[in-house]
Amino acid sequence: MCGIIGINSNEEFYIKDAVKRLKRLEYRGYDSFGYYDGTILFNQVGHIKIPNTDDKSSRIILHTRWATHGGVTKFNAHPHQSTKKKVTIAHNGIIKNYEELREKLIKKGHEFTSETDSETTAHYFEEKLKTKTIKEACIDFLNDIEGEFALVIMVEGNENIYALRRDSPLVLGVGTNTNYVASDIYAFSDITNMAIFFENNEFAEIGTDHFQFYDKKGQKIQKEVQTFKWEQEESTLQNYDHFMMKEIMEEPIVVKRLLFSLKTEQKINFEKFIDLMRKAKKVTFVAAGTSYHASLLGVYYLHKCGIEAQTIIASEFEHFIGVDKDTLVIPISQSGETMDVIEALKYATKHGAKIASIVNVPYSTIQRISEISLNIFAGQEICVAATKSFVNQVTLMLAIAKEFGYNVNLENLPQRIEEVFTMKETIKEIAKTLFKQKHLYVLGRGLSYPVAREIALKIKEISYIHAEGMMGGELKHGTIALIEKGTPVIGLLNENDYDMRSNLKEVAARGANVISISNKLKGDIMISTSNDGKFGILASIVGQLLTYYLARELKLPIDKPRNLAKSVTVK
Ligand code: F6R
Repeated sequence: MCGIIGINSNEEFYIKDAVKRLKRLEYRGYDSFGYYDGTILFNQVGHIKIPNTDDKSSRIILHTRWATHGGVTKFNAHPHQSTKKKVTIAHNGIIKNYEELREKLIKKGHEFTSETDSETTAHYFEEKLKTKTIKEACIDFLNDIEGEFALVIMVEGNENIYALRRDSPLVLGVGTNTNYVASDIYAFSDITNMAIFFENNEFAEIGTDHFQFYDKKGQKIQKEVQTFKWEQEESTLQNYDHFMMKEIMEEPIVVKRLLFSLKTEQKINFEKFIDLMRKAKKVTFVAAGTSYHASLLGVYYLHKCGIEAQTIIASEFEHFIGVDKDTLVIPISQSGETMDVIEALKYATKHGAKIASIVNVPYSTIQRISEISLNIFAGQEICVAATKSFVNQVTLMLAIAKEFGYNVNLENLPQRIEEVFTMKETIKEIAKTLFKQKHLYVLGRGLSYPVAREIALKIKEISYIHAEGMMGGELKHGTIALIEKGTPVIGLLNENDYDMRSNLKEVAARGANVISISNKLKGDIMISTSNDGKFGILASIVGQLLTYYLARELKLPIDKPRNLAKSVTVK
């Protein structure tokens, strides 16, 4: 969360172009944004607006914020400056010991203007620079600071940008006559495909045509420049009003691309992945949010073919299991940067487990710390809500389960998705009947249960309607008390699922407004597949479309829902 950028060039560029670059990272947080170009410190609350100025600069740091410490105010917006304005910083992460540092710095005469933990770092450097070089100050910082940071710093009178990393993502982009440092490669992937990833406790001095990395003792380190390849669709809205709809419409293409990759460029990795799964005594998935729902589907698929597997929500990982050298831990993550997942993997690695990951963003931290990694090839997802990435995560789960004997034809999946799209108008009409509701329930059993949870999550985050995704069987153990006349209940009604039919009858008998998504059986939405695995993916797409239309009726900011960010890099 929070996106940071530093640009150092030996040619002048328009500030508005640098801010457009920051806009590419806006999915990391959109509470406020700001920049410092060596002269002007600008910041503003709200979504990023491209400034209407022809001002130029050759060096700049920029920040887009997802608030952690301190409210969403102009004072708390980054960049932050030290008292004498000698040091300016933009920070992503959390400085855990900021309160004690702040007290010490106040005693030394520093005046703080924000409530943030981040501001402390600017004052810290100013204080250190009274007696030390910048390099020495960076070494001290890495020793003194507790917490996580990707930090970019500009110091008055110094022509470089300095950047430090611990646990928050940071990457250097090597351009022609210009160097970029940013939270992720999107910030510069249109300009250069050459990058160097910071590892923990490294810092770098970044000039216009040179850079030098150092370890935490200040020893120089030579790092390899990596050339990255990034499959992606056009990152503009084209004819769509929102990225959410554009990304849903890309689902057939990205499914094809993933399936093709498993037979071509990912073939060997895919075989190795399956081999690791076969050899492991224990297979444990770990993920958060939507990716967790994909992993839960994976667990159901594997159990269907006799393979024991489990999944744990990343933030609870270490409370639940004993992992050891015979465990294969499979993280699933769109961003590849989710802090809870990374922390779970650190725990797993410490206990000797092997890591085989499934990610979307290439070169992300989770991919880089894995023994082996499969890419879901969904391309860049700009809407905060995961849509096409979920579809590809689940497609990959099905492809994996197929290797263990699960019977599914994936080749016609893109066509089946297109068929769901033909029902857009019907789904829109359903949304018109539901958008004023305060609560709704989504019920599923077996393979449809994770999908019920996923649909409910999507509805909550984008339309702000309280939705609960439940196991059909659990309903009568308490929640049914909430069903009254007119309560909407979306039922995922798979062919032959007689128990689910009964559950829907039970709520209908209590006055619920039942909306069924069904295959074969007559329902409000009819999906044409007899495969229960594919039914789940297709039903989740119905849920995505329904969510979209609910939010449209409610005139909500579909791509940037309140309080959220796409890359959750704090615990
Ligand atoms: C919901 C959503 C989130 C993410 C979760 C994990 O639409 O996008 O729930 O799924 O934050 O993120 P990743 O997959 O990047 O680890």
